[in-house]
Amino acid sequence: MKEMVWIIVLVTTMTIKMAEAEVHYVGGGKDNWAPNVNFSEWSIHEHFYVGDWLYFGYDKNTYNVLEVNKTSYEKCIETDFISNITRGGRDVFELTEPRLYYFLSGRGFCWQGMKVAIKVVNASRPSPSPPSPKSAASGLGCNNNGRIQVLLLLSALVFSFFSH
Ligand SMILES: *[C@@H]1O[C@H](CO)[C@@H](O)[C@H](O)[C@H]1NC(C)=O
Ligand SMILES: *[C@@H]1O[C@H](CO)[C@@H](O)[C@H](O)[C@H]1NC(C)=O
Ligand SMILES: *[C@@H]1O[C@H](CO)[C@@H](O)[C@H](O)[C@H]1NC(C)=O
Ligand SMILES: *[C@@H]1O[C@H](CO)[C@@H](O)[C@H](O)[C@H]1NC(C)=O
Repeated sequence: MKEMVWIIVLVTTMTIKMAEAEVHYVGGGKDNWAPNVNFSEWSIHEHFYVGDWLYFGYDKNTYNVLEVNKTSYEKCIETDFISNITRGGRDVFELTEPRLYYFLSGRGFCWQGMKVAIKVVNASRPSPSPPSPKSAASGLGCNNNGRIQVLLLLSALVFSFFSH
């Protein structure tokens, strides 16, 4: 019975999560807001949609995160920023508009490459291609088809769990 509750919680959580937007780990990892990461290289390979979130993971005693305008981004000007995203070093930022966003770390670290430009598009997220049996994870899309497929998959798992 306990297991059953757990599985229901799991399924519910996953369903809710899929309805949410994507979280982008800036720099490609949970600790990658740091010097000497090529953030242009990272951001050109990501697709940002309205409603997505950025996650900045860093040592808050050393670095910070400031949203700035294009000029400040290009010239590493850290005064007169637009907003200060710095909190505890595991900070998130919601991309609410289809536009270019610019961020940098103050305290001089912009000069060591700690700056990133994010281009948010207004298109809806493309629906995932039909999942092959081996890669169910790639089918974890946000459309209803994906959700139903995941639910079916999980029901199958629950079933095999209880028929042991
Ligand atoms: C970062 O990557 C971009 C795009 O691949 C490249 O043009 C640029 O030279 C790289 N910058 C550094 C400092 O390596
Ligand atoms: C960007 O911000 C700087 C500093 O506040 C300001 O001097 C500059 O005019 C701004 N540039 C644009 C394009 O808004
Ligand atoms: C940004 O906010 C953090 C946390 O509120 C604060 O400690 C820090 O001094 C602020 N940084 C700037 C440059 O205003
Ligand atoms: C972006 O999408 C919203 C909601 O679908 C729409 O109202 C808005 O006009 C769109 N903006 C652009 C610039 O396409």
